[in-house]
Amino acid sequence: MTHGSPNPRANKAVIPAAGMGTRFLPATKAMPKEMLPVVDMPAIQYVVAEAKAAGLDDVLMITGRSKRSLEDHFDRVPALEHTLELKGDFGKLDKIQEATNLGNIHFVRQNDALGLGHAVLCAKQHVGREPFAVLLGDDLINEREDLLERMIDVQQEKGGSVIALMEVPRENISAYGVAEVSALEGSTGDVVRVTGLVEKPDADLAPSNLAVIGRYVLSPAVFDVLERTEPGRGNEIQLTDALQVLAEGEGEGFGVHAVVFSGKRYDTGDKLSYLQAVIELACDRDDLGPGLRPWLKDFADAL
Ligand code: G1P
Repeated sequence: MTHGSPNPRANKAVIPAAGMGTRFLPATKAMPKEMLPVVDMPAIQYVVAEAKAAGLDDVLMITGRSKRSLEDHFDRVPALEHTLELKGDFGKLDKIQEATNLGNIHFVRQNDALGLGHAVLCAKQHVGREPFAVLLGDDLINEREDLLERMIDVQQEKGGSVIALMEVPRENISAYGVAEVSALEGSTGDVVRVTGLVEKPDADLAPSNLAVIGRYVLSPAVFDVLERTEPGRGNEIQLTDALQVLAEGEGEGFGVHAVVFSGKRYDTGDKLSYLQAVIELACDRDDLGPGLRPWLKDFADAL
């Protein structure tokens, strides 16, 4: 890049939301897992709001069959809005309009469930040749954290792709993509270079305890790699495998860095972590916290 012409900044977000949600059956038998409420808002709305807060106004959701309610949730509901207006219930009106006001949301369908890498490839035409963010709907990052914005900054500065890593206990590591990293010269900060990646390795073969979490800021070069990526773990086209190629290769769009995150993240695809998310977020809220916190203390004392 010549001096004075900064790298382009990611301004589109891709949110894969085509998964089946089998971990939450029977709740997800007739309802997408992304619509499960976390307190009183569907999980997916937190993720779209996070994208918007990081300056990503253009959101593309990759959906599949039986995901119509996702489109409906981000659409207007004139009859309900009208009723609330007549009643003068502007608080509720604001609440339902929040989802519609989150910016430009587009939808594309992944016709075959061939894996996360394949879902991201479905965004190729919409994204074009710009860096872009990917947010996985199962991962909730507390709104007080600025992880995504930080990753966008790092991507703009360094080029290539940027992933987010988090230390997890060894016994949980095989549920994640796992990274091998090296420190950046002269840096003691939270940014490292990624030298290798492996999807869901056995715990004794994992190169570290640094797990890939569901936030990525990717170079469009990932599309070229994904087009050539063969099915990997679970016979699915894995985003982690494409990132491994980008990490070890050289040239335009190659190279992977990571921001090591130590803040609050919940996996709403996992029942225990989902319950923790609901409780923690409700405790934080002005309308629910004062009632919930003392009750929770008594409840825990009685256990
Ligand atoms: C996906 C990725 C994995 C990553 C995880 C984070 O796996 O393939 O590399 O660590 O998200 O949540 P999934 O949880 O969809 O199986």
